[in-house]
Amino acid sequence: MTRALVTFFSKSGHTKEMAFFISENLKKDNLDVNIRPIDKIKVDDLLKFEIILIGSPTYYGVMAKEIKELLDESVRFHGQLKGKIGGAFTSAANIGGGNETTILSILNAFLVHGMIITGNPFGDHYGPVSIGKPDNRAKDQCVQYAKIIAELAKRIYRE
Ligand SMILES: Cc1cc2nc3c(=O)[nH]c(=O)nc-3n(C[C@H](O)[C@H](O)[C@H](O)COP(=O)(O)O)c2cc1C
Repeated sequence: MTRALVTFFSKSGHTKEMAFFISENLKKDNLDVNIRPIDKIKVDDLLKFEIILIGSPTYYGVMAKEIKELLDESVRFHGQLKGKIGGAFTSAANIGGGNETTILSILNAFLVHGMIITGNPFGDHYGPVSIGKPDNRAKDQCVQYAKIIAELAKRIYRE
């Protein structure tokens, strides 16, 4: 069974809610999903999953420092995350508040690791975005994203 890690940092719970929506929908596609806040992740945990999705609030247009710390620590395993599927999602206060740049800040690190990333041609292109607490639109983006990630995993891991 393909294993997916959904991890997040969240102060007021919005990104956490997105993480739960995404996880629930990945499970519907028969993935073995592990959802954990970033402070419960050790960097070597990253090696155990074929799919790694990270959620962060938008902080000045980039990821929160708690996420960056883990990604910086992941240099210990540089080269070993190659070929894994990566994805990112964010909650921000404002439309145009730097949400896509926040997602890209995480995806940048995944690309440097040689991970495989995908976009959504019909929804939030870079990954799900919520403005504040996830509304129905944001929840739908989480559902769509989970489906896209699960389909990619099926193609790559042939399960
Ligand atoms: C330090 C800090 C920086 C922030 N920077 C931005 C920003 O650049 N753009 C924006 O739209 N919201 C910004 N926000 C608001 C958060 O992204 C927003 O409240 C988000 O929904 C919080 O997610 P959470 O509930 O998962 O903690 C910032 C909040 C904090 C605390």
